[in-house]
Amino acid sequence: MLRKTKAHFPSDFLWGAATSAFQVEGAWNEDGKGKSVVDDRPTPNGISDAKVASDHYHRYREDIALMKELGLKSYRFSIAWTRIYPNGEDQEVNQKGIEFYENLIDELLKNDITPIVTLYHFDIPQSLEDRYHGWCSEEMVEIFARYAKTIFEYFGKKVKHWISINEQMMMVFNTAMLLGKGKEISQNDIYKEYMQACIHMSLAEKRAFQLCHELVDGGMIGPASAFQLCYPATSSPKDVQAAMDAEEFLSYLVLDLSVRGEIPTVLTSYLKSIGAYPTITKEQETLLKADRPDFIAFNYYASVTVKEPGDIEKDADLVFFNTENYTIVNNLNCRTSEWLRGAYDPLGINIIMRRLNDRYRLPVMVTENGYPQVDTLVDGTVYDKERIEYVKEHLSAIKEAIGDGIEVLGYQMWTFIDALSGSQGFKKRYGLVYIDRDEQDLKTLNRYKKQSFYWYQNIIKENGESL
Ligand code: BG6
Repeated sequence: MLRKTKAHFPSDFLWGAATSAFQVEGAWNEDGKGKSVVDDRPTPNGISDAKVASDHYHRYREDIALMKELGLKSYRFSIAWTRIYPNGEDQEVNQKGIEFYENLIDELLKNDITPIVTLYHFDIPQSLEDRYHGWCSEEMVEIFARYAKTIFEYFGKKVKHWISINEQMMMVFNTAMLLGKGKEISQNDIYKEYMQACIHMSLAEKRAFQLCHELVDGGMIGPASAFQLCYPATSSPKDVQAAMDAEEFLSYLVLDLSVRGEIPTVLTSYLKSIGAYPTITKEQETLLKADRPDFIAFNYYASVTVKEPGDIEKDADLVFFNTENYTIVNNLNCRTSEWLRGAYDPLGINIIMRRLNDRYRLPVMVTENGYPQVDTLVDGTVYDKERIEYVKEHLSAIKEAIGDGIEVLGYQMWTFIDALSGSQGFKKRYGLVYIDRDEQDLKTLNRYKKQSFYWYQNIIKENGESL
């Protein structure tokens, strides 16, 4: 579409940055915190674990002072369930955990930074994994609801922006993250088990939506989708159909459950045909159809390209997404980079917003977007011009979507301070602020502002007018 008028970011746009508890907090066993599945995950090739991470637990005041200096309007972080209920379903809350988040929230508000709080970001308590095999069990629904209720009761007066579950799809299709290490599942039952766990998570999410709407005056809550934008490799109708199938699986399966309370039509038939359609009782069906989210948040780094099912492209990025319905290929029209998984595709963020708007008509928010690279500290800073370029291009595509009439609530850049990467420790960094540590050597853990910090500071100051 030709755009003949200049777009502007709204004056209340939430210019922000994001982190998650296990990736920055450290203090993994302090002040009564229990062990979570991510604390206990295997860390191959000498990459760092979550024990110290970026030491945010001890340095959050210093970090918030940096956020203030940067001019952030919002900060997305997650609450570690194991700081609140160390074993997931303890009788009493852990007061020290409540205190930590209360202080964090107060400090943010004192500095005019809006907290955006994720209830659950990959880190269920290890005890729940041991006792129930995590989300494989229906019991998790009410256990999660109780945790969410506690959080809303303690923090709902001050926090109005909530994220329910981070990247449910990634957990659904990744046994190690979702089911922990305990449960042995035969290859035959694996899809059924994935889908059942997915439904349990969606039911838990619905309970969180209900509780938020009931307990948080003026509160809004939405899921953080790991939306996978899937392009067909060619204009062959078979490739186009495969791209639709991939997007149904990777993006709309979970989002349709969040918004419409049902599994997409074509997926329903497919899952039934392979005996993997989950068991859903009448009562659960009603719960799934209960409260809708108030907005859709999504995390976006790169797009995905697929062709009709066939020979696997071994060197394609993201091959782990392959199924019998589509084959992942590289997109020859897009750049790639060493650490970006999938295609470097700024316009993709705009296309996602249009798709979400068409399908759900809800406001959207970007809860993660950022550029991974190996950063080197030189004269007290990091010259991360590739990161600046990446964010700039994505923000321009968002601005275009705003001009097109889509309601975009905010942008939370991943990450504020360098964080422990999901799979690559501290070698791979995303932050606006550099943390002085290596994979194993904790060094000083001091904070250094990267060039992207100063660039983003200016963009926020001029409300993105130069983009
Ligand atoms: C998202 C997660 O999937 O991607 C984050 O929500 C994660 O927790 C981010 O860190 C980047 O992935 P990685 O593996 O590069 O850290």
